[in-house]
Amino acid sequence: MKQTNTINKWWQNTVVYQIYPRSFQDSNGDGIGDLQGIISRLDYLQDLGIGAIWLSPVCKSPQDDNGYDISDYQDIDPMFGSLDDMEQLIAEAKKRNIRIIMDLVLNHCSDEHRWFIEAKKSRDNPYHDYFVWRDGVEGQYPNDMRATFGGPAWEWVPEVGQYYFHQFSVKQPDLNWDNPAVRREIYDMILWWMDKGAGGFRMDVIDQIAKVPDQKITANGPRLHEYLQQMSRETFQKGDLITVGEAWGATPERAKLYSNPDGSEFSMVFQFEHIGLDQQEGKDKWDLAPLRFVQLKQVLNAWQTQLHNCGWNSLFWNNHDLPRIVSRWGNDSAQYREKSAKMLATILHGMQGTPYVYQGEELGMTNVAYGIEEYRDIETVTMYKERSAAGYSHAEIMRSLHAKSRDNARTPMQWNAQANAGFTTGAPWLKINPNYTAINAADQLGRKDSVYTYYKTLIALRKQLPVLVDGRFELLAAEHPQVFAYTRTNQTDELLVVCNFFGEQVACPVEKDWAEYRLLLTNEAEPTDPTVLQPYEARIYLKKR
Ligand code: GLC
Ligand code: CA
Repeated sequence: MKQTNTINKWWQNTVVYQIYPRSFQDSNGDGIGDLQGIISRLDYLQDLGIGAIWLSPVCKSPQDDNGYDISDYQDIDPMFGSLDDMEQLIAEAKKRNIRIIMDLVLNHCSDEHRWFIEAKKSRDNPYHDYFVWRDGVEGQYPNDMRATFGGPAWEWVPEVGQYYFHQFSVKQPDLNWDNPAVRREIYDMILWWMDKGAGGFRMDVIDQIAKVPDQKITANGPRLHEYLQQMSRETFQKGDLITVGEAWGATPERAKLYSNPDGSEFSMVFQFEHIGLDQQEGKDKWDLAPLRFVQLKQVLNAWQTQLHNCGWNSLFWNNHDLPRIVSRWGNDSAQYREKSAKMLATILHGMQGTPYVYQGEELGMTNVAYGIEEYRDIETVTMYKERSAAGYSHAEIMRSLHAKSRDNARTPMQWNAQANAGFTTGAPWLKINPNYTAINAADQLGRKDSVYTYYKTLIALRKQLPVLVDGRFELLAAEHPQVFAYTRTNQTDELLVVCNFFGEQVACPVEKDWAEYRLLLTNEAEPTDPTVLQPYEARIYLKKR
């Protein structure tokens, strides 16, 4: 077998920061974050130590799904700025050694994209076959497939007497990847962004592009990897990019294809197997259940061990679709918020893969519990209507929503304790979390024991200690109901991570000759007795081999 050094890529040695542009920093008082706002905060990100920014979509869009419905892939939405602003952002970031990762939404576009406007004019329009159509009669759907954001996955267009297929909202028609002309358009667009200096691409729901609706196949269609390899050959392989595929349906086996070290597809996958462990089995995310902690360890362990030396993973607790981790699996009370946020960060940043920090996570930002009228997210609003109609009580729906709404992650960034958290001088597009007076960047930047400083230390540690990048992962105390512990080992070092995931003190199940282990980092004010773990205590030790 060919011997490949799998740890020599820049994106294996860096940390990515995700920005949700409309909620990061407003520069012109319209209440919506924008590119100039991001530029004004680059020094903050440089201080944190990250090497790349994943920018959620900023291309032209009617904003039906906050930019995940693109109407022009080669222009910036005026709400965020202009192409000039984008070029300035890329250049300013570059000066700080930060690359910009564009969010490519390739499974679908907006129904206001010119391709779709043309496509629905007639069946022989050259763009008609850019989308997925089925004949039929109005009112009789081709099949019973449902769209993620509610309703049938089919929408009738009287002009052509056909239904088009949409996996998400009606305003997000699916692109027909089986049409080579569509693929060519996409590759040319990617090359154009590479030419503009994009440092990489995050590919939205990429496992769903090769759909076969007649067989009700959405994820992992038969031609998926053929298309991905072609795309990679035609585009990514011509540059030194970070490429990350969002794949809800990935298994470690499939991830080895996505992130094959030979570079034939992407740099890494962004998969969610660890994320669904607090919902009722076989139900959806709104059907809440306590976290299955031992299973969480098993799942992370499986990914760590199975991809070692033959693939690469993204490490994340948060993104723009997920609730805030400190509220979800930590403890957001005044007493334990900072401590549990640091513990969760320790577990994640100690593993193998590329860590992602979602904006505000580095401050320990929390979930919100608003009234229904405050929510903006299309998924949240649709779910409220559907569950109300299905007879769920208001209280029950709100409980699910407070726990899992995507708007938990989308409340504006909390920069300081001044009006509107320093996010905007106008009226914010989504209500700011009222706890911004206590939780904000200004408070945390210079404070030695802040969550921010802890993240900064973890990010710096990754650059200092190769074992964090290349070390083999071994889970310890796998069945223990409260402690998350593991080692990372390479030729010279053994790194030991020991964390108490819960709020009760516990005897440490890991037994070592502690005199041999040097404590590198802890979330306690002072080092504690190594044989006992305090609530949410986290420790990283190093031993020379
Ligand atoms: C992805 C995005 C999500 C979006 C969906 C449709 O899951 O992360 O925000 O709504 O794709 O594009
Ligand atoms: Ca603005």
